Amino acid sequence: MKMILIGFMGAGKTSVAKVLGKKLKLEVIDMDDLALKQSKRKSINEIFEKDGEAKFRKIEFEVANDISGRDNVIIATGGGVVVNDSLMNKLKLNGLTVYLKNNFDKINEYVQIKKIRPPLFQNIESARKLFNFREPLYTKYADKIIETDNKSIEDVTVEIINNIK
Ligand code: S3P
Repeated sequence: MKMILIGFMGAGKTSVAKVLGKKLKLEVIDMDDLALKQSKRKSINEIFEKDGEAKFRKIEFEVANDISGRDNVIIATGGGVVVNDSLMNKLKLNGLTVYLKNNFDKINEYVQIKKIRPPLFQNIESARKLFNFREPLYTKYADKIIETDNKSIEDVTVEIINNIK
């Protein structure tokens, strides 16, 4: 089983991946962690600040290439993977892509209480535009859509497991 979790920033991909990994006894791969390691920077925000978004996307593509052939894994993606069609096609190969779908206001609430905001979430209105642009892309690449509004990480995880049985 290779499961790829997609969705907007703050949708819970990383947290859900960790719990799913434990429950299904599968390794969890976090693409942002791998991109950060490869960048030699201290944070994703620092990559965006010092190297720019294009450089981050290049690293993200290399990471996707490296892991696309893996099996028995849960892959937590970064929210921007869906803007690159060839990346998505590689990543999706022999896998099940699950879209964690949340509404923008819920995502915004969650992001606002975090100490560090993602680089593309510095301004609410531009983040909302990005969300509206990407929403159809998440839907396009999804094999399954799980609505996460007002659900706990545990609830979402159980729903995914019940869905893949
Ligand atoms: C991004 C989302 C981030 C991270 C980077 C770019 C995006 O990951 O990859 O900041 O373009 O939506 P999360 O979705 O895990 O926050």
